[in-house]
Amino acid sequence: MFGKIKSYSIEENKVFFVFEENVGRIEVINPWVINIFSPLKYNDHYSRAIENLELQPGSFTVEEKNCCVEIRTETLIVRVCDNFKVNFYDKNGTKLCEDYEFTREPFIRRGYGNILEEEGHKSEKNSDSHKIEIIKRLYGDEKFYGLGDKTGHLNKRGYSYEMWNTDDPSPHVESYKSLYKSIPFFITLRENCVFGIFFDNTYKSYFDMGKENENYYYFGADDGNLDYYFIGGNNIRDILLSYTNLTGKTPLPQIWTLGYQQSRWGYAPESRVKEIAEEIRKKDIPCDVIHLDIDYMDKYKVFTWDKSRFPDEKKTLSELKQDGFKVVTIIDPGVKKETGYEIYDRGLENKYFATDKDGLTYVNKVWPGDAVFPDFSQIKARTWWADNQKLMLEAGVAGIWNDMNEPASFNGPLPDDVQFENEGRNTNHREIHNVYGHLMSKATYEGIKKYSSKRPFVITRAAYAGTQKYSTVWTGDNQSFWEHLRMSVPMLLNLGLSGFSFCGTDVGGFSFDCTGELLSRWVQIGCFTPLFRNHSCAHTRDQEPWAFDEETLSINRKYIKLRYRLLPYLYDLMWNGENTGLPVMRPLVLHYEHDNNVKEINDEFLFGENILVAPILEQGKNFRAVYLPEGQWIDYWTKEKYKGKQIVLKEAPIDICPIYIKQGSIIPNYPDQNYIGEIKVKELILDIYEGNGIYSHYLDDGESFNYKNGEYSLYEFKKVSNAEEVIQIRKVHTGFEGYETFKVIFNKIAVNEVLFNDKKVEFTQGSNSIEFIIPAVEGTIIIR
Ligand code: GLC
Repeated sequence: MFGKIKSYSIEENKVFFVFEENVGRIEVINPWVINIFSPLKYNDHYSRAIENLELQPGSFTVEEKNCCVEIRTETLIVRVCDNFKVNFYDKNGTKLCEDYEFTREPFIRRGYGNILEEEGHKSEKNSDSHKIEIIKRLYGDEKFYGLGDKTGHLNKRGYSYEMWNTDDPSPHVESYKSLYKSIPFFITLRENCVFGIFFDNTYKSYFDMGKENENYYYFGADDGNLDYYFIGGNNIRDILLSYTNLTGKTPLPQIWTLGYQQSRWGYAPESRVKEIAEEIRKKDIPCDVIHLDIDYMDKYKVFTWDKSRFPDEKKTLSELKQDGFKVVTIIDPGVKKETGYEIYDRGLENKYFATDKDGLTYVNKVWPGDAVFPDFSQIKARTWWADNQKLMLEAGVAGIWNDMNEPASFNGPLPDDVQFENEGRNTNHREIHNVYGHLMSKATYEGIKKYSSKRPFVITRAAYAGTQKYSTVWTGDNQSFWEHLRMSVPMLLNLGLSGFSFCGTDVGGFSFDCTGELLSRWVQIGCFTPLFRNHSCAHTRDQEPWAFDEETLSINRKYIKLRYRLLPYLYDLMWNGENTGLPVMRPLVLHYEHDNNVKEINDEFLFGENILVAPILEQGKNFRAVYLPEGQWIDYWTKEKYKGKQIVLKEAPIDICPIYIKQGSIIPNYPDQNYIGEIKVKELILDIYEGNGIYSHYLDDGESFNYKNGEYSLYEFKKVSNAEEVIQIRKVHTGFEGYETFKVIFNKIAVNEVLFNDKKVEFTQGSNSIEFIIPAVEGTIIIR
């Protein structure tokens, strides 16, 4: 496809190559990030994921060698050879990533697939060759992480996937090649080597992670540019930071979005919604959000209300608000084809809808029957959609849930030849499909931001790389299966490693009928997923916390209350993630990447760096083995201490989710509340564990963008543990009204004396801890 290098030239941060048959270029984005590009479709990057490519190339050299051109940045060596083969080394010359010198050689499938198909089996096929194909050498111990919401395990090695946003309501299983999201980014890890690759191509793309041959892995696409980023770094954290510097960080959300959310298809009419709200409060379940699914709309017409079910939606929503409930409404892209319906008429008049190949408005069937599809690739259509958000906000809606935006229709994906305007680069569905949901979310985000001036809360089912800066995501239509509970852990962890920190699953499962035991175990994971929403399908068994028995209700209450106590810790993680790109839910490998025992842990995760969660994922199971990585860990429930780098056996009856706290942790807690804002939190609880540690706690108004102008407070707690425990409290930033007091829970009982700024403090003795209250000012606590 390229042939031999004929010449090369350097211009600013780019090295341009002329090959016998094509041209290519290497761009130094920064010393760790290199772009490999060939204009097979567009002359330059045409990215939907990267909005502001920041260039900080530093100094680099280019030198012609025997059989290649060598580019040296401050940290990497990049060798470009004939046929545009590109190899990467660290600055000492250690190989990181090499193009494979040979052609693909897929394994042989013996026997006949057709006879299998006659019986109704699916016969697997090897992937054909693709217009673009980058084949990389695979090493013995290489592991792969990321790739978005794919099914299966944490490590993607040995499997192949496709990026083609897919809504398939049958049970999601390991053999699925694609689901709702296309995040063409992965991280590879082997002994002393870690890097990431982001293949920025929105066409259908293919990722074979060493399935068809043990000697290589490859990624490819049907069309578009050859455009990928090699992202080097010292550890997975560096890679995530660089990747999210390119595609964007999950922004700090409004704090109520981190509360518990109750949903079902569908809570309607108004009386049913109120009944749910009342029940939630009566049953003492903290909750901030109730979701309205498609039934609130008039004949499934977007941006309308069914007046027979919601005669006065403004009043209903404002009454719910009085009781501490925000309402989030679902919206689909499909606009009902009906003359006289304002949204349809305006869209048609302004040519905001996608067309067929003959230029006629494209029509397909979704909830409202015949529907047309906004062309979100068009700036004007996006602005119009953004402006429509005002209609929902005026009704009192607090967040928007974008669904069916793969885009899905009742006849499967739209045909390839549906036409899109694409900001003046007219194209068809093949290029837009994977970014349709992304662009819809961008429009939604911008609209909510414009008309509410609060941090927008958008949920989307379909996404592309970079959607994380606009929207939270959920993993779509799972089922009330134990297998789906199990799979939710690696799915969410890989979403986090793909930049999507704010994610969650339908707690309890969407389709099929849940059981009390399954919901009890699911809520124990849900408590630690940033998006914490119980949602279920129409016509399934009721799935609210109280829908089973007293025990299930009390377990739901226990974990939802735990979530509300941990809210300041979670909010700190989100704030931190906005700067670092680090997700809330983390596989152990993110913090312990040199520990071979953690590279494939699918059933444990870290909630931030300090809390390890080892959920129960099987029916009837009441104990499990927990691997604790290096350091000391404290059982959250019993306060027993364990040395790390060992497996412990933990008894976990139905109300216990094994949770371990890292030694030296300082975990901020809030007092109990039914919803965010019910009480003004004047006292921050500090749950402190023996050992050395440092922790920063962030505080702001929880909803506006004022924090960007310095209206926030930042506390730093530094703990040194010797013969006595010394905790230094500093206010690093004081742009927002702080707390009045700190209530310290120190998890140790053999304590004689507590001093704060040299004055004695009274403390009370609990069974595993001591407690005392001090003013929330700077100073030093000494515990001896
Ligand atoms: C889709 C969504 C689901 C929703 C349903 C009805 O299946 O994934 O969450 O409840 O549509 O709107």
